[in-house]
This record gives sequence, structure tokens and C-alpha cells, in this order.
Amino acid sequence: MKNGRIAGTGSYVPETIWKNEDLEKMVETSDAWIRERTGIGARHIAGEETVAQMAVKAARRALENAGICSTELDLILVGTSSSESIFPNTACLVQDEIGAFRAACLDVSAACTGFLAVYELGQLYIRSGKAKNVLLIGADALSRLADWHDRGTCILFGDGAGAIVLTAEEQETKACERSIRWRKGVSLTCEKGTYLQMDGRAVFQFALSRVPEVIREVLAEADMAVEEIDAFILHQANSRIIDGVAKRLKAPKEKFPRNIEAYGNTCAASIPILLDEWNRSGRAQKGQRIVLSGFGAGLIWGAAYLEW
Ligand code: ACO
Repeated sequence: MKNGRIAGTGSYVPETIWKNEDLEKMVETSDAWIRERTGIGARHIAGEETVAQMAVKAARRALENAGICSTELDLILVGTSSSESIFPNTACLVQDEIGAFRAACLDVSAACTGFLAVYELGQLYIRSGKAKNVLLIGADALSRLADWHDRGTCILFGDGAGAIVLTAEEQETKACERSIRWRKGVSLTCEKGTYLQMDGRAVFQFALSRVPEVIREVLAEADMAVEEIDAFILHQANSRIIDGVAKRLKAPKEKFPRNIEAYGNTCAASIPILLDEWNRSGRAQKGQRIVLSGFGAGLIWGAAYLEW
């Protein structure tokens, strides 16, 4: 059975940066509080730029990095919960812009687990033989859903997009995903036309209990031990959540790369942005064993094991 292997990565964040010091002028908060409680120092803000425009920029970079032409794509999947366009979906807008005219196009709404969801679907398409080259994108502009008067939520979020190209691998590589789990939870919600509402402590506790659990499950399925994993690429929601997961897995913090300091929580974009940084900084090595894990509103969570 063929699996998809990461052939290329790309990412994009908007130019405008709001540092913690900028937020001190909007709400009663401080750089010290935000850094200590979350690890965040700044976030990028989309402004007029749409989710689709960010997605296109990340997609072009991923295609170039993979050395694949857009017409070779069989499928485009976009994980997003903040697209300005209800229809056409963001994947269709990307398809049109990059000229991927053979590709089927779908959006998946799974909040911060959006990239994990499209990653699993992309692998399933490849395993079924229905697709050879798949473009997977996570793109969000949660700055538009955040209430910039609510210090309990607005400090967390930033905007951006990340993308990977998966191609069917001739040689067999090991890959498995733990199906995305879903449980109705009201600790993080956003009704149309309103701002997102969150019980931060409840989300924090949910992540600390479910993420280590689902990672252990996916590792058992892959017949791998925690010690054999080279990097755990987690959704960047809060640096303390990442530390807590590392502790529960008894894995060194150094194996948990992070970029939350520069971007905040970019929702579905955080994992592919981090994968792109991992790749472009030269840290990615062929055969490396990687675990991905996403978690967030729904509540939805999941994990995947892959070999680079
Ligand atoms: N600046 C200063 N003080 C603040 C701020 C702020 N920005 N926000 C809250 N406080 C105050 C509170 O009012 C409270 O004051 P009090 O003790 O006088 O009542 C105190 O700080 C502690 O508040 P807590 O909410 O208990 O702080 P906590 O340590 O839990 O940190 C946080 C809050 C950062 C939101 C944390 O709970 C968290 O990160 N939770 C996870 C949230 C998350 O990751 N959400 C996204 C999920 S992904 C998705 O699907 C979108």
C-alpha cells in the first residue's frame, strides 16, 4: 500500500505584526503576563488580506519546494474555519488562482484540528489510489473572530497559512493517523456573526488530557515508542500546553519545536507553518519519525505518525 510522503512545504504570514506591547494599548494586559501564561510575543494580522489569498501564497511556495506543477495536483484540501467566502470554498479559490484544473477541491472545518483533518483525508485518498499528488493547506484569520476588547481571548490568536504537498511514495513508508475524534464541547465556540467565546482553563485541561492520549494511541498503531520519535509537531495554542504534553509523554521539550512566540495561535495554519520552518531550516531529514497532533474547538483532536 502506498502512503503519501511530504514532497514540499510552504507558508505565509501577513506583514502586519502586533506585538504584546501593541495589545497593552487595547486591553488591560502586559507583555510579561502574555509571555508567562502563553509563550506568545507577537502575532501577524491579515487586515484586508483574505484567507484564500494567504492560502494561495503558501500553496505556491509548497509547490515550488516540491518541484510539482499545479496541473499535476489531483486534490486540494483546505482546513479553515474563518474563510470570508461561504461558497465557493477556499480550495476552489486556490485551485483557480494556481491553475490546478485537474484537482478536486474541498474545505474542512475543524478549527485548530483542521490541518490534521485534511492530512488524514489526503492520506486516505492516496492510499485508495484516487490521488497521487495532494495539496494540503491550513489557513485561518482568527483575528477576525476575536473580540479585541476581551483580554481573555484576543491575546492568543494570529493569522497565517501553511501548506504541504503529499505525493504517493513508490517505496513503502510507515504512516498512520488516529481518526479525528469529536465530542461536543461548549468551552470554545463561535456563532456566525459573533466573536469567539472560550473557557480557557477548560480548553487547557482538555488539551493536556487528550493530546498525550491520542499520541500514545497513534504510536501504538505505528508500533513506535515515544523515545523513537524525532519531533512532535503540535498545534501551537500555548507553550505551557506543549510543555505539559512533553511532561506527560516523558519526552524532552527539545523534541517539541515551537514558533508560538512569533505567531501566536494561527488555528489550522500552525502545524503546516511549523512543518515548513522545520523543512526550510534544514532540520528535516529523510526517514525522520514525526508525530503531528492537533486539538481545539469542537472539541476535536487527533494525531498522525509519519516518516519524512
Ligand atoms: N492579561 C492580564 N490578565 C489576564 C489576561 C490578560 N490577557 N487574561 C486573563 N487575565 C487574568 C484573569 O482575569 C485572571 O484574573 P483573576 O485571578 O483576578 O480572576 C487571571 O489573569 C488568571 O486567569 P486565567 O484565565 O485563570 O489564566 P490562565 O493561566 O488559565 O491563562 C489562557 C489563560 C492563556 C487563556 C489559558 O487558559 C489558555 O491558553 N488556555 C487554552 C486556550 C486555547 O488554547 N484556546 C485555543 C484552542 S485552539 C482552537 O480551536 C481555536
